[in-house]
Amino acid sequence: MTEQSAHHTFDLVVACDLNRGIGLKNGLPWRLPGDMKHFRDLTVTTVNPKLQNAVLMGRKTWESIPLKFRPLPGRVNMVLTRNSDYNINPDATVAGSLESAMENLAELEIENYFIIGGAHLYEQAVHHPSCNLLYLTEIQEKFECDAFFPSFENLFTLISTSKTHQEHGLDYCYKKYQRNR
Ligand SMILES: NC(=O)c1ccc[n+]([C@@H]2O[C@H](COP(=O)([O-])OP(=O)(O)OC[C@H]3O[C@@H](n4cnc5c(N)ncnc54)[C@H](OP(=O)(O)O)[C@@H]3O)[C@@H](O)[C@H]2O)c1
Repeated sequence: MTEQSAHHTFDLVVACDLNRGIGLKNGLPWRLPGDMKHFRDLTVTTVNPKLQNAVLMGRKTWESIPLKFRPLPGRVNMVLTRNSDYNINPDATVAGSLESAMENLAELEIENYFIIGGAHLYEQAVHHPSCNLLYLTEIQEKFECDAFFPSFENLFTLISTSKTHQEHGLDYCYKKYQRNR
């Protein structure tokens, strides 16, 4: 690992229901356009207008994004897979591990790294020493899910909670957590 990648932190972005459910049949169990916009703004916006952010995701999450919406615009898309034949160049860069993804990104001028799922990648990320912030959209409902965010309450401290938003009859809010050192 290079000196730079060793020191670059990453943040997590996720939308969860009350059971920490995040997905069903490789899709999202809900449709919340307001949260999608929040996700886009959070992951696209940079302090330095000359830089981009990177979004890191597991191969299944990449495949769950409809063709017309990927790669996610305005961001460097990095897809993790252990299949060395998986080639989606030029739409996204592929890496065989989280460490090599971080190393590849360190070669580029990237402002923030965001891990955007899915369950397998979150499970590794919450325990990783480079994990910094967790941006969690909490949906006040219980959905049928087959993919879950890991238990994280003992690893993070809540910093802020937004007001409650309402969409399609669903209440949700944005919570921001800091990884405990
Ligand atoms: N609610 C949300 O915020 C949210 C966000 C994202 C995704 N999701 C949902 O989550 C579900 C998908 O999650 P998932 O856990 O099934 O899949 P995933 O984490 O997106 O992808 C898993 C795959 O990523 C690759 N991978 C994971 N860790 C790796 C590592 N350290 N090194 C190399 N490759 C690695 C492997 O690909 P190979 O098998 O190719 O080796 C693995 O099979 C979907 O339902 C999706 O809609 C929800």
